[in-house]
Amino acid sequence: MIFETHAHYDDDQFQDDREVLIPSLLNDNICNIINVSSSFESISSGMELAEKYDRVYVAVGVHPSDIAGLTDENFSWIKKQCRNPKVAAVGEIGLDYYWDKEEEVQKRQREWFFRQIKLAEEENLPIIVHSRDAAEHTMEVMREAHAENIPGVIHCYSYSLEMAKEFIKMGYYIGVGGVVTFKNARKLKETVVGIPLERILLETDAPYLAPEPNRGKRNHSGNLTYVAEMVAELKGITSQEVEDVTRENARRLFSKVI
Ligand code: NI
Repeated sequence: MIFETHAHYDDDQFQDDREVLIPSLLNDNICNIINVSSSFESISSGMELAEKYDRVYVAVGVHPSDIAGLTDENFSWIKKQCRNPKVAAVGEIGLDYYWDKEEEVQKRQREWFFRQIKLAEEENLPIIVHSRDAAEHTMEVMREAHAENIPGVIHCYSYSLEMAKEFIKMGYYIGVGGVVTFKNARKLKETVVGIPLERILLETDAPYLAPEPNRGKRNHSGNLTYVAEMVAELKGITSQEVEDVTRENARRLFSKVI
């Protein structure tokens, strides 16, 4: 069984079939799903899914590219949701300088990232970090916020092996998804080889980033077997072992999942 640590089943791309797809994944080899919020609106849709399916949990938070929709008022609403037993994490939060180049916007991203880390600390929840083209500032904000005091994962990891080791030193997990199966993913493959399996989580980021041989198609948690197989190949172990160890990692991190 595989623990899916990062998917967006509230996305419009699942509009027509999520009610068939999710139960079929859970009846197959997916033991749990963390549905991760991106926009403020997606928090409610994710929570509805978590209410509907026992083994689906939700991460609440606002993605750096969607912080325009954040206000003090809806931030305190998010804080209230954290007490819900199906809320397993704060996420996805972080910095994305790939899409947002403007200095002023980037500053706001850092402020909301900081506040959401603090929220997770206050509410005793792990964080799911999104970081793209912003490695140094991500580390900086995390150190400022004393993120080493709370557990978390750097999702869809895209930086160097050295950086991964830094995050691991802070107590963080490294999220590995479909990208690891791509031919040009040299850096990520190197990272997977160089870090302990005990620090890796499997994730899709569905509907995005489908692994080979389904690259370019809509992604879903069923494709995680391809990710597990690639991690196994890189580590020289069986994919069963990859599934078992990463599932235990996820259970350790998302301690509200029962
Ligand atoms: Ni995501």
